[in-house]
Amino acid sequence: MSTATLDKNDSAGPVDSAENSASHLITLTLRIRRFNPEVSEDAQWQDFTLKIDPKDRVLDALHQIKWEQDGTLTFRRSCAHGICGSDAMRINGRNRLACKTLLKDINPEKPITVEPIKGLTVLKDLVVDMEPFFQAYRDVMPFLITNGNEPTRERYQSAADRERFDDTTKCILCAACTSSCPVFWNDGQYFGPAAIVNAHRFIFDSRDEGGEQRLEILNDRDGVWRCRTTFNCTDACPRGIEVTKAIQEVKRALITRRF
Ligand code: SF4
Ligand code: FES
Repeated sequence: MSTATLDKNDSAGPVDSAENSASHLITLTLRIRRFNPEVSEDAQWQDFTLKIDPKDRVLDALHQIKWEQDGTLTFRRSCAHGICGSDAMRINGRNRLACKTLLKDINPEKPITVEPIKGLTVLKDLVVDMEPFFQAYRDVMPFLITNGNEPTRERYQSAADRERFDDTTKCILCAACTSSCPVFWNDGQYFGPAAIVNAHRFIFDSRDEGGEQRLEILNDRDGVWRCRTTFNCTDACPRGIEVTKAIQEVKRALITRRF
């Protein structure tokens, strides 16, 4: 049986490693747009200074503030890995996912601004009311529609047919696109890019038979024709979806009725 022993060098190890990890830390300021309707009708900026590893993400900084400085700071997050879409926010004026944004990539020498996404009612701090966004999503019927009897075997689809809507299957419903759209900011009635992306996903699916219905829904005055092709949505999408291209394809399908 062997017995572990500590010599001088071993005992110095943990101290060294603690000092090394501390040496990675930088001091940064997060400037957060705060709003609490129970306290004030007005939103205001609040600065938080913290020591943090620049390789950490904005979400880690928000957690550190919530856990160590101000437990009332309110924001959504779930997966912390770019999958659930719940932590879209405006970081340095641009829509991003907090869990996918490294501090070192957004100039941590200057105060980093964090605000709620635009065009949706702010409920508290960084949390907005997502209901209008999800209502538009529900309105385009984002599910497979088929007529007739259930098939007795799987519905075949060629690789080429699958490819036609591959890009739009990647949506995580984060609302970064819709809330970056100036048309949506104006009155909030426009369906918005995310709903159109999710309609596209089924309109161009060769197994689906509800394309005409979805196109009629999007032919509405608040549908695709409100798009002004500003490309904000494509720039904002954390999944790299070519949102503007998908909207253009839906417009074309409406004109040609070929999809
Ligand atoms: S299209 Fe992109 S930005 Fe828009 S909701 Fe889907 S994942 Fe988010
Ligand atoms: S927390 Fe899920 S996408 Fe960021």
